[in-house]
Amino acid sequence: MIDFRKLRPALALALALGFGAVHAAAAQGQAGQPWMDRSRPSGERAALALAAMTQAEKLSLVFGFASGDQLGQISDSVINAEARRKALASVVPGSAGWIPGVPRLGIPDQFQTDASLGVRNPRMDGHTALPSSLATAASFDPKLTFAGGAMIGREARLSGFNIMLAGGVNLVREPRNGRNFEYAGEDPLLAASVSAGLVNGIQSNGIVSTMKHFAINSQETGRTVLSAQIAEGAARDSDYLAFELVQDWARPGSVMCSYNRINDVYACENDRLLNQALKQDWGFKGYVMSDWGAVHSTVQAANAGLDQQSGFPFDKQAYFGTLLERAVEDGSVPQARLDDMVRRILWALLDKGAVDNPVAKGTIDWDAHARVTLKAAQDSMVLLKNTENLLPLRGARSIALIGGHADRGVLAGGGSSLVMPRGGNAVPGLKPEHWPGPVVYYPSSPLKALQSALPRARVAYDPGTDPVAAAALAAKCDVAIVFVTQWTGEAFDVSLALEGQQDALVEAVARANPRTLVVVESGGAILMPWLPRVGAVLQAWYPGTQGGQAIADILTGAVNPSGRLPITFPASMEQLVRPRLDGVGLKDGEGFTVRYTEGAAVGYKWYDQKGLTPLFPFGYGLSYSRFTSGKLRIEDRPAGLTATVQARNTGARKGATVVQLYASAKAGGWEAPKRLVAFQKVWLEPGESRDVTLTIDPRLLSVWDPSTGRRRVTEGDYLFSLGDSAQSLTETVSHPLADRKL
Ligand code: GLC
Repeated sequence: MIDFRKLRPALALALALGFGAVHAAAAQGQAGQPWMDRSRPSGERAALALAAMTQAEKLSLVFGFASGDQLGQISDSVINAEARRKALASVVPGSAGWIPGVPRLGIPDQFQTDASLGVRNPRMDGHTALPSSLATAASFDPKLTFAGGAMIGREARLSGFNIMLAGGVNLVREPRNGRNFEYAGEDPLLAASVSAGLVNGIQSNGIVSTMKHFAINSQETGRTVLSAQIAEGAARDSDYLAFELVQDWARPGSVMCSYNRINDVYACENDRLLNQALKQDWGFKGYVMSDWGAVHSTVQAANAGLDQQSGFPFDKQAYFGTLLERAVEDGSVPQARLDDMVRRILWALLDKGAVDNPVAKGTIDWDAHARVTLKAAQDSMVLLKNTENLLPLRGARSIALIGGHADRGVLAGGGSSLVMPRGGNAVPGLKPEHWPGPVVYYPSSPLKALQSALPRARVAYDPGTDPVAAAALAAKCDVAIVFVTQWTGEAFDVSLALEGQQDALVEAVARANPRTLVVVESGGAILMPWLPRVGAVLQAWYPGTQGGQAIADILTGAVNPSGRLPITFPASMEQLVRPRLDGVGLKDGEGFTVRYTEGAAVGYKWYDQKGLTPLFPFGYGLSYSRFTSGKLRIEDRPAGLTATVQARNTGARKGATVVQLYASAKAGGWEAPKRLVAFQKVWLEPGESRDVTLTIDPRLLSVWDPSTGRRRVTEGDYLFSLGDSAQSLTETVSHPLADRKL
């Protein structure tokens, strides 16, 4: 079975693009251009190309332009007229950015596009949007995220882009973070597994993917001025661990350093973060690009490990323009450092295939891509409640569909990851219409999908703006389905309480009809005060450009729900680490510190440590089938520590369960009582049972030791438990581990 997390991009490239034999001429490289010889290792090719470059060419590779109209406003002191003309002629309008290549050496321009959910370009015709990354994390399926990445990376390549600014893997440390929908949950193993799948999928198209935002970019309030205060060891065993594992399992060509400071030093000029952790400890060979406007110096940033300034003029100065040229001339930035920056960029372009297979516009198979995002949405939705088996809808003759613009489409998140859909915004004119808006609904109507799936039922829609009218319709129907929405996005944080009168709407409808269910289209966790009074809840997240169809498929039972929560849903705001969000109410630009006193105890680890019971726990999700898992065996094998589990489908229809393995250190010493150390999604026919073997990565059993700068597994007894969620452990065995430095 191919473990897509570990698939090297070159192999994935061959698999995904079905390359035939490499032409002999290309294998030898054009005469005089040995770096074009594909048979040489990428590092060697990069060094050869570097050696052929002039200083001016090197400097042009480390300085990126944004695509906006600001290009024309850049002063001549920053770029000369020739470079400006080339930039204005080359950058793709509406795209994220552009960096000139070196045509005489066969090095392509870098055409950058956002982001993790698909090609974002408000100036182009629409593209296919995946469900949010938090949604596909809920699939617990790296093969699914590989397929999604392969699809959006193909759309990027065929739209002319060779750098995809994707791979958001910041842990969901703050449930109110407006960008949680772009990330992959609260647990390092899950976040890294699904993000590695996405990055490998994108890079299988012969283009470069990033992973981002490195690091501890955990809230949007004050993101460019806040300092994330956290002990190095705690960061290494939580947020940094997710990045470390993605780097190991997917080898992204680039890492995007984040806006914020970490322990008072900006991420993009943070030596400990970039040079020590990423490059020295994890062996990262690619290049660090800044976030757009995240650079604050020339010498400190260059010497701390930043390799490319992105998106000028988002920054206050062209730090990597003439200022860098002078810094290299006066020696404050060694020539060797500039050479290393360029070599890293060249390595990424060569290793991922962007040099050997230059991108070009091409025809996109929209139907095939629609099938990919539909499958992703179907397998990411989480059935949170289903009393009296209200779902799947069977025999209902009349159904009231209420609210959430469910007659026209499904919600998407705002900001730089927003993909504009083919067919346009299904609900135009919602506020804010400008950044971080527009508020977009993808034209995939749950109402239309349900009506075509249930031709004998009368499915009526009510906008939900008047709870009395909505309740009146619900009272006349067999079943009432209320759609609630929470718009979140980049550059702002949100409350967990639903906006407007949505809670009151649910209460009114539930009073009118006991067979009421709720579909949630949200960026992350929300509070559900009405939960005891509704019969079922489906967490649909932001479900992408086929989301309406996927919702109908789950509600009608055409698809068996198989998602599990990648984040904890709090029962109340009091359960949060920080009931009050730091930085709220401060003047723009006023710096502040967020003290992450929970350390590595993020999400369910915090709830375990404090003995709290959430509304819904990490790893939780229902199915239309029932499963058992047992006979847990832990064995030391040559391949490493493995767990064997028998999973069984005791229900009457095919479905998927997620085998979750948690571990605890009996002697303590970890950040929290337990950690997820392995998982696997398993599809089983009715009555089928299967032995599942999980390999446990030793890094997940280790603690990073600040005194040695290495990971260590401490000798002793450890408990390994199967779980249906972080709050429901079903079987536990003890197993000793020897002392081990990693
Ligand atoms: C943004 C985001 C980043 C994005 C970049 C380019 O501000 O933080 O995720 O890739 O700028 O749009």
